Amino acid sequence: MQYSISKTFDWYLTHVLPTVEKYAIQKKDGYHGLYTHTAAVVFRGIDYALALGQDTAGVVLACAFHDMARTNDEYDIIHGKNAIPLAESAMNEIGNVSYDLRESIIYAVKNHSLNLPAPDYISECLWDADRTRLAWECGYNPKFFATNRAKIIASKTAKEYIDFMKGHLSEYALKIIQLGESY
Ligand SMILES: [Fe+2]
Ligand SMILES: [Fe+2]
Repeated sequence: MQYSISKTFDWYLTHVLPTVEKYAIQKKDGYHGLYTHTAAVVFRGIDYALALGQDTAGVVLACAFHDMARTNDEYDIIHGKNAIPLAESAMNEIGNVSYDLRESIIYAVKNHSLNLPAPDYISECLWDADRTRLAWECGYNPKFFATNRAKIIASKTAKEYIDFMKGHLSEYALKIIQLGESY
């Protein structure tokens, strides 16, 4: 069963974020912050997974974990790999993740900063959700995106997507996260 973006995002805030926060070494705010960039990536990941007709839980977890080990805003290809032990600890605590789903999440997180072809919908949705901001900032190139929904969103502007977010976030979510990924 699929829930709306808003309901799924609230599930992330209440059931996933508190555990991620315990293990993440990334900042809370700023360009790669947990409440700014990661929140936006989780939201877009849900959006892209729903557009594919896929289950959202694994995508939420992959997006939630992807920058847990990001400690700077520089070019950094190893923070995906460094996030694995942190993501493993968080997943052990969250529980209820099958072996196959866990493998897909780990692959997506580990390789999100490399230019590899996405092997499944978990990697597609995380990588597309993460790269969407880059397209808004540096220009859109469809070759960096796997899903049709991401191609549409990445080819528009950040402002247009923030307006979409405002219409699909609960009051609770709007109080917690920062819209706009805080430049
Ligand atoms: Fe990253
Ligand atoms: Fe990221």
